[in-house]
This record gives sequence, C-alpha cells and structure tokens, in this order.
Amino acid sequence: MRLSKRVENLPPYLFVGITRKIAAKRAKGEEVISFAIGDPDIPTPPHIIDRLCRAARDPVNHRYPETDGLPELHQAIARWYEKRFGVSLDAQKEVLPLIGSKEGIGHIAFCLLDDGDIALVPDPGYPSYSSITTLAGGEPYYLPLKAEKGFLPDLEAIPDDVLKKAKLLWINYPNNPTGAVADLDFFNKVVKFAEQHDLAVCHDGPYTEVAFDGYQPVSFMQADGAKEIGVEFHSLSKSFNMTGWRIGMAVGNATMIDALMRLKTNLDSGIPQAIQYAAIEALTGPQNCIEEHNAIYQRRRDLIVEMLNSIGLEARAPKASLYVWAKVPEGYTSVDFTANLLDQVGVAVTPGVGYGKHGEGYVRLSLTIPDAALVKGLSRLAGWRSTRRRIIRG
Ligand SMILES: Cc1ncc(COP(=O)(O)O)c(C=O)c1O
Repeated sequence: MRLSKRVENLPPYLFVGITRKIAAKRAKGEEVISFAIGDPDIPTPPHIIDRLCRAARDPVNHRYPETDGLPELHQAIARWYEKRFGVSLDAQKEVLPLIGSKEGIGHIAFCLLDDGDIALVPDPGYPSYSSITTLAGGEPYYLPLKAEKGFLPDLEAIPDDVLKKAKLLWINYPNNPTGAVADLDFFNKVVKFAEQHDLAVCHDGPYTEVAFDGYQPVSFMQADGAKEIGVEFHSLSKSFNMTGWRIGMAVGNATMIDALMRLKTNLDSGIPQAIQYAAIEALTGPQNCIEEHNAIYQRRRDLIVEMLNSIGLEARAPKASLYVWAKVPEGYTSVDFTANLLDQVGVAVTPGVGYGKHGEGYVRLSLTIPDAALVKGLSRLAGWRSTRRRIIRG
C-alpha cells in the first residue's frame, strides 16, 4: 500500500510520543507522575452532566445532528460572548459550533491556504498550526516568541517577501505553551497589521477563562475591526472541564465562518446533540465553577513555581493558561532534561522544543494534575535536586 505524500510527511502529534513513553514505563510497573498534558483532572460540573444525561435519554437526540449546530447553541455562544466580553455576534452568521476547537483549527487551514501560501505561525506554538498548514499545502513561517518581548511575536520583523505570500496569521493568548497573555493594544495592532497586509487572522483563545489573581483575559474579538479580518477559536474544554465531550466554537468573520461550515458539511455530520445541550447548559448555567477551578489551579501554580525555582529551574507564575513554562538548568537540552527527569525520578514534563525550535531551553508543566499526585511529583522534583547535587559533587 502506498500512503499519500501528504500523510507520509505528517509528523506524529507531539503528545503521542510522550504518552507512549509514559505508558512503557508504567507497563514495567514504574509509577510516573505526569505534568505533561493539559487535560483538566477535575470532572465536568454536575449540572452540565445532568443536562447531558437528560438529553441522551431523549430519542430526538439519537439521530443525525445538523452540521452547523442547534440554533439554541448558536444563541448561547453569542450571549456568552456578549456577557463575558461585551462582543456582539450574529448568532447564525458569526458563530459556528465545532467538535472541539482543534477540529476547526485543522479545517480552517483548508479554507484559507492554497499550495505554496504562507501561514505565519508562532514558535513555540500549539503544534497543529504548523502541521495542518503543511497538510493543506501551505508553508509555515515561524514567528519567534521570546521572553524579552513577553512572548508576543514581532510583526515588524517579518520580511516583505514573506508577507507577500502570507495569507494567514495565527495567534494564541493566553498562550500555550508559554502562559503569556496579550492585552487589547496588542490585538488592535494585530488587526491593523492584518488589514495592511491582507491577512486573515485566527486567534486561538481556549484559555481565556483560566486566569489567576483576579486577572481577566480579553478576547481578540474585542479589538476594533477584528470581525472584518478574523475569527477566534474557543472551547468548552478548559473553561468547563469538558475535553472528553469535544465541543468548541469559532466566532467572528462571517465569510470565514461560512467557508468553515461549507467544508465541514462535506466532512462531518455535526456534534452529537446531547453534547450540544450540555454546552448550552455550561454557557448559560451557573458560572461559579470557573472561579472554583481557577482557585485550585492557582494554588497548584504557586506550589509548582516555588519548587521549580528552588531546584534551579527559572519559572515565572503565569497570569493565565494551564501551564508553567520553565527554563531548563544549564547544560541540558529540553529533551535531555525531560528524559533525565523521567529516568531519575519518574516525573514527566513536556520538552519545549516539541513546540518549535524557539521552545528549546524550556519545559512545560501543566496544572491539571490531581493534588495527591502533585504533592508526590513536587517531592520527587526536590529529590531530583539532591540527585543532581550528588552528581555535580561526585
Ligand atoms: C492552544 C490550544 N488550542 C486548541 C486546543 C484544543 O482544544 P479542544 O479541546 O477545544 O480541541 C488546545 C488543547 O490543548 C490548545 O492548547
């Protein structure tokens, strides 16, 4: 059998390798504490599950859903954006429910890119932006995110010849993997830049609800003119601990939303309707679960950051997102360090280079680790410090 070149050239997804390594260790009977994956450990709130169960029992929801989603879900998303960000959206034309935001992130590349077109992609960045660009026939051009610039891309540094071929700009704040945030000034600059260079903007914002110390992230849709040039991907995965149910949304530019919907009607048959009802409940029901979850993540964040700094891994407490981005100790690459931690103390973290070459020198730790495992993981990290000291002295 001969696979398509497109798929032959497609690298496996970052976490597949990490998950396999952890599974191999566990299969040998070793206990691994994993800070590797950003998948909320706290269950979906009970009122959302109750709605899901009720909807699952109704035979109306046993049949094919509409690909473009229930009108009530469109309305619920539009109302949530109005209430949370003060952004008004046309519920039918400017809102599209997705089978998790990753699905829309993947498919939008096929709506915007032809062979040889450039997509501007943050580095380090969520791996799908670049892999899907290549799959759609485009070429990623990487925008370095550097600590000294607050992990924001330097748009002015993009060469003219690249801009001429570029059709799409990806941004993502609160950011995975760096935990950086962006303000409205930055988003306003992005809109102006996109207008100037005829770019479509895709802002990926699944972490706007995961924030600490009273900080409230903004939506790209709040920027002046954002709707004229771009869309925002959002998700219920991280806001409401619903990664397993696979539901998200794209909102914004009506032409881009329509293109994505047209593509999707040819590819999938919509989101299981019971899950759409659960999403409506999440968006319109009590929101206090968000604050409760953030208090848990904030406590974990502080414990992790303190421990990392105490063992010589420089890390700042992020204002938002589920991630701590920490510098690896001198003398290690991110891959060496990750392997060393796993072998020496059975702790899994993600190597920064997995998110792009500018992620080298860092590792990412996720806050989605249950408290008991967190305590054990932190004490193992403290143990790594003493192992290291013995090696250095030895
Ligand atoms: C930056 C970013 N975008 C999108 C996603 C995908 O989320 P969803 O569960 O909505 O597909 C993730 C998941 O980790 C993410 O970190």
